[in-house]
Amino acid sequence: MNNYQLPHYRRILPRCFLAVAALLMPVALHAGALIHFAGPPGGPELDFVKKLCDEWAQKTGNTVQLISRPSDTTQALNQFQQYWSARSGDVDIYQVDVIWQGICAPHAVDLKKYYKDDEISQYFPRIIENNTVKGKLVSIPLFVDAGILYYRTDLLQKYGYSAPPKTWEELAEMAKKIMDGERKDGKSDFYGFVFQGKSSETVTCDAIEWVYSYGGGTIIEPDRKVSINNPNAIKALEEAKSWVGTIAPSGVVTYDEEPSRNVWQAGNSAFMRNWPYAYALGQDPKSPISGKFDVTILPKGPGADGKNAACLGGWQLMVSAYSKNADAAADLVKFLSSAESQKRRAIELSMLPTRPALFTDSEILAKNGWFKNMTEVLQNAVARPSTVTGADYNQISTSFFQNVNQVLSGTVSAPDAVKNVEKVGKRLMR
Ligand code: GLC
Repeated sequence: MNNYQLPHYRRILPRCFLAVAALLMPVALHAGALIHFAGPPGGPELDFVKKLCDEWAQKTGNTVQLISRPSDTTQALNQFQQYWSARSGDVDIYQVDVIWQGICAPHAVDLKKYYKDDEISQYFPRIIENNTVKGKLVSIPLFVDAGILYYRTDLLQKYGYSAPPKTWEELAEMAKKIMDGERKDGKSDFYGFVFQGKSSETVTCDAIEWVYSYGGGTIIEPDRKVSINNPNAIKALEEAKSWVGTIAPSGVVTYDEEPSRNVWQAGNSAFMRNWPYAYALGQDPKSPISGKFDVTILPKGPGADGKNAACLGGWQLMVSAYSKNADAAADLVKFLSSAESQKRRAIELSMLPTRPALFTDSEILAKNGWFKNMTEVLQNAVARPSTVTGADYNQISTSFFQNVNQVLSGTVSAPDAVKNVEKVGKRLMR
């Protein structure tokens, strides 16, 4: 039987159905935007963010595709700069480092148009100021980082220490005593201290803490003075060099965050310098050091110039100026950086919120009691010279991290290293 033999209504109805479907199809296809998000590089943070993106997608009818990026900050910047120089719309949202704001600014949507003033004032003003370049709100703070000292409470007790070290000298002494003792007990892989020594942004963070804590400044000061060539900075770098191959493994010159955490979390180090994320991972019930460690502020340098230092880090969300779906992307940025999402991030991943109000949240404090000390640490945290150098920040940091890494590896002396960095700094500040 062909269509001509069907009764009239049976011929017309399917056609009507097809016509209506054809009309609706484009609507259905365009109801939701596809948002490409270059978020975290991997690990539990990526799983967490995927979960949040799924929730947002479900709520809004949009779709989110996560784009992978290297875990090394400097390499991630290289990848992102390729997208930006091609003015590519392939990524709508970037998770960007606190130090890149001057670099990102020309490629970012001004997020002010999506936020009311009283929404912006819920974030730390210092970070909002950092993320505002020539009046443009380049990105919204997602989480903040500060370098902290992790220490093994069980081992401090075993070796007769009642408190964590107050100065770097004390740290080196305690680390040595514990390391020697543990090795005598047969733990031949045990070290005193692990940190990040890799020739990358990672050692810029550690080394600015050493230098600043010795009273040696911040490489380039906010008033554009290039300060790195000074005796305190040299002493700080020499002290750090003395740890390599003694209390720290020689390989520390290739470590960024995760390799140092791996040594620490396997139970093979008395102390570690790292960011807050390593807390939740170390306290996981499956972790060998769960319940055996605590965190505190990093040690001071010696004498009257010595002060505590924590490098200010953290990540932000930026909407690409080349995005074809900026409104939907901004909505996802809002959702990911909302108080509720940040609270979950703080509880599940021990990452510090960018909203001061959350530091007194009882559920967050019940899980991470140490957060109550972190507002003070953050207030005094040392910023890398990214505001004063703006779009040129990566040049000064590259010179600094390469030279510091060479000091740690023993191929350049500390006095030569600071001279080399000074030269680059002075050229940039000219
Ligand atoms: C952390 C910090 C970031 C820093 C990076 C270096 O991710 O949040 O600011 O640049 O470590 O490895």
